[in-house]
Amino acid sequence: MTLELLQAQAKACVACRLMEGRTQVVFGEGNPDARLMIVGEGPGEEEDRTGRPFVGKAGQLLNRILEAAGIPRESVYITNIVKCRPPGNRAPLPDEARICTDKWLLRQIELVAPQIIVPLGAVAAEFFLGEKIPITKARGRWYEWHGIKVFPMFHPAYLLRNPSRAPGSPKHLTWLDIQEAKRALEALPPKAGRVRPVSQEPLF
Ligand code: URA
Repeated sequence: MTLELLQAQAKACVACRLMEGRTQVVFGEGNPDARLMIVGEGPGEEEDRTGRPFVGKAGQLLNRILEAAGIPRESVYITNIVKCRPPGNRAPLPDEARICTDKWLLRQIELVAPQIIVPLGAVAAEFFLGEKIPITKARGRWYEWHGIKVFPMFHPAYLLRNPSRAPGSPKHLTWLDIQEAKRALEALPPKAGRVRPVSQEPLF
């Protein structure tokens, strides 16, 4: 199985009611061998239109957050809990999240094999923490999920609604969080299982 094959299958998904309102399945994008996977909630209008995750206003803020921390967007893998836009941008319902993560997210995680997962917002954090915890409590702390480090952060859409940069504000805390995530990324051991064998043949 490859991410490309999985994506081709996901494009035809009819497993839940979210298929009814979608323009496109927003599968995810980025480095297929990423150390860091970012998981949002679900596609919004712009994502539904373009078929790409985090390309609307919240996505542009996510880009700025990553850039400020020196994490190239192309170096990470970005996806969502649900791959189809919920009507009116409502939160995914529990059955939609369960069906979609079973079918797609779990397999994406297996294939990318990230060493760190950053869930953005309460819906994504709940999936990895296995319980509803206010994001104000969960963010900025390290958890473990099947041997993978998990570090929840605020959703950028929440930061758009809370633009203050004062000490202790969501934006300020996010700045601290992304720097902590960057430090952890830099301290990771080499990624296991994906090392390219040294060629026995001359490479010229
Ligand atoms: N919000 C999300 O949670 N995901 C996206 O892809 C875009 C906005």
